[in-house]
Amino acid sequence: MILFLPGFFLFIVIFCIFVRIYLSWPTRWCRSEKCLIGKTAVITGANTGIGYETALDFAKRGAKVILACRNKSKAEEARRKIIQETQNEKIFVRIVDMASFDSVRKFAKEMEETEDHIDILVNNAGAYGLEKKKTVDGHPLLMQVNYFSSFLLTNLVLDLLKKSTAGRIVNVSSMAGRKAGQFDVNKIDEFAPNNYDHAFSKLCNILFTIELAKRLRGAKVTTYSLHPGIIETGFYNNVTGLKNILFIIIIKLFSITREEGAQTPQTNIYCSVAKGIEKYNGEHFSCCQRVAPYKTATDAKLPQKLWEKTEKLVFKH
Ligand SMILES: NC(=O)c1ccc[n+]([C@@H]2O[C@H](COP(=O)([O-])OP(=O)(O)OC[C@H]3O[C@@H](n4cnc5c(N)ncnc54)[C@H](OP(=O)(O)O)[C@@H]3O)[C@@H](O)[C@H]2O)c1
Ligand SMILES: *[C@@H]1O[C@H](CO)[C@@H](O)[C@H](O)[C@H]1NC(C)=O
Ligand SMILES: *[C@@H]1O[C@H](CO)[C@@H](O)[C@H](O)[C@H]1NC(C)=O
Ligand SMILES: *[C@@H]1O[C@H](CO)[C@@H](O)[C@H](O)[C@H]1NC(C)=O
Repeated sequence: MILFLPGFFLFIVIFCIFVRIYLSWPTRWCRSEKCLIGKTAVITGANTGIGYETALDFAKRGAKVILACRNKSKAEEARRKIIQETQNEKIFVRIVDMASFDSVRKFAKEMEETEDHIDILVNNAGAYGLEKKKTVDGHPLLMQVNYFSSFLLTNLVLDLLKKSTAGRIVNVSSMAGRKAGQFDVNKIDEFAPNNYDHAFSKLCNILFTIELAKRLRGAKVTTYSLHPGIIETGFYNNVTGLKNILFIIIIKLFSITREEGAQTPQTNIYCSVAKGIEKYNGEHFSCCQRVAPYKTATDAKLPQKLWEKTEKLVFKH
């Protein structure tokens, strides 16, 4: 016992050090100096976290940036900060609530009326650990916010993206997509077992990207999914379930914070601006490099099945 205790504490200390190093390991930096003057970028959930940092970077590159957010006052505040920091006045707020298909349609219609092209769409808005609630459209909230609504949004603005000289669609997924062992494409409209709602919705982003890339073949638009890295944002505030809460405690204690985490939007930026990645259309990225698709995402027919199922579900409204 006397020998056991110090060993145990040593183990805990070493374990903590490893977790901290792992979680704060800097991702690579996007070295592209691409200028975005004359380009239009749309970022959902751009008022805070990774979406905000991505918007800020695009603004520095001179883009016209559309902050697609659900809360007007939060979005206006983000707009003010971005203009103040970059002196780029072409920052606009548009309201979209990803928990409502009507709101997504209204947003897309506004885009059609006000924009003649979109060059970059970053599907970033996302939620984590929400209780098992349903949306006004009757779908599981996490699935609709993280996946169905970006599916709908992407499809509704696809024509605007095709008018770009080299449009890009970047889907912010997550390594959580990896966990999706028990994913069943026929059950996407139900709450997931084992609190896998978030993991499944993120897996859908990856699969969707694969299928979208296939459907975009021959167009000038390319699409990528990515894992942005782990960072303590508002993202982990509302969680339930013991396993998730343990996970959150580790994140809160050891992961890099927003302020330290300037590198966290780097993969978003990389997929949006880096030259020469078009040949990887549809593929998955992490740390500014292409990574092999997760095992569950390699069933050759799954992306197509998911697309067809989602299409029926989303366009019936
Ligand atoms: N942070 C991480 O460690 C991590 C890891 C892997 C993947 N990701 C992914 O990165 C993306 C951004 O995460 P984050 O860490 O930056 O989170 P965050 O700070 O919580 O930001 C999430 C953004 O999504 C918006 N949003 C949530 N529900 C919405 C809705 N119904 N309609 C419109 N917008 C909505 C939020 O708006 P409000 O401010 O109004 O709530 C906020 O702007 C997410 O897709 C997430 O899955 C993050
Ligand atoms: C928007 O956010 C502000 C500040 O957090 C909050 O006071 C307000 O109620 C929110 N508005 C809506 C419509 O959710
Ligand atoms: C991104 O995902 C959304 C849904 O997740 C989909 O509509 C869009 O076509 C996908 N593009 C990618 C890159 O997934
Ligand atoms: C998280 O919980 C707070 C307080 O319980 C609540 O006001 C907020 O709306 C929740 N956020 C989400 C994204 O559900």
